[in-house]
Amino acid sequence: MTAQEGHATAEQYYEVVTPSGKVHRPPEGRCWGISRATYDRLLREGRIYFGKKGDAQPNIIRYLSEVPGVAPWTWWPSSEVGHTDQSKKEIHALFGKTAAFESPKPESLMERILHIATNPGDLVLDSFLGSGTTAAVAHKMGRRYIGIEMGEHARTHCAPRLQKVIEGEKGGISEAVRWQGGGGFRFYRLGPPVFDEEGHIRQDIRFPVLAAHVWFSETDRPWDGSGDSPLLGIEGGRAHALLYNGILGDKRPGGGNVLTRATLALIREDIAKLAPGFDGPLTVYGEQSRLTPATLDRERITFKQTPYDVKARA
Ligand SMILES: C[S@@+](CC[C@H](N)C(=O)[O-])C[C@H]1O[C@@H](n2cnc3c(N)ncnc32)[C@H](O)[C@@H]1O
Repeated sequence: MTAQEGHATAEQYYEVVTPSGKVHRPPEGRCWGISRATYDRLLREGRIYFGKKGDAQPNIIRYLSEVPGVAPWTWWPSSEVGHTDQSKKEIHALFGKTAAFESPKPESLMERILHIATNPGDLVLDSFLGSGTTAAVAHKMGRRYIGIEMGEHARTHCAPRLQKVIEGEKGGISEAVRWQGGGGFRFYRLGPPVFDEEGHIRQDIRFPVLAAHVWFSETDRPWDGSGDSPLLGIEGGRAHALLYNGILGDKRPGGGNVLTRATLALIREDIAKLAPGFDGPLTVYGEQSRLTPATLDRERITFKQTPYDVKARA
């Protein structure tokens, strides 16, 4: 029946006398969670419990039928949420007996946590995904999820585990939630950071890394180019090119990174190879443009200057 003192009113400090005559005041730093008037009403209704001997601190009696859902208890017995041995068996069933994870959690434990903390459709983040239990359980429970894992087991264990889930894997909580399979996930490998702490493009960044960033920020799609041409691709009727890091073979400082008639001709050559007859607009990222505004207009080119126009995504 106690609460933290933070926003307590004077109403929440009073003496409670138990049936055996013992007097209770709120413990140090706390107050009663209800006013004297509410306490008196609950007492009359037989809703206050003073322990078996009738002398303990008061507790409010709440009936299960009055609580929406199930109120979480602080004691989670292994008969309900599983134990380490069970989680090891789940891991062995999924990956074979040689698979070793330091502290895998049973699916039923993650289910309880997600049940309390989330609703279907919510987004669950486990930034230390380990064997992938959180993601597997979130998937079976109809939550969306992001799992982050730096170890190779992201590829060798987490992704195959989720693939099995999609195919209707029967272990863990599958029976309890009547899991039948379905859904999907995307697997991404994080590239090196493009920006330093101050938001500048890092000096050591290589062409394919910047190309992937520029392409993604322009098109919202992952880049699958090889990085051997300044032309990054054509998407939604627009071509995208990046002049950076001597991609055209000219290693002089700034050489090949500047939009000139010559570098434009090379980009146009690559466009013609990829999509003969393409006459849509073109975005070019480069250190500088030597083309006049009139030429840029005529050629339907949007020029963006590195590094200033390369934006870190919020
Ligand atoms: C104890 S396990 C996670 C257990 C997991 N959540 C489960 O319930 O099975 C910790 C994992 O975090 C990963 N890890 C540690 N530091 C990381 C980091 N900075 N970024 C991504 N993963 C990391 C480790 O490789 C390891 O697989």
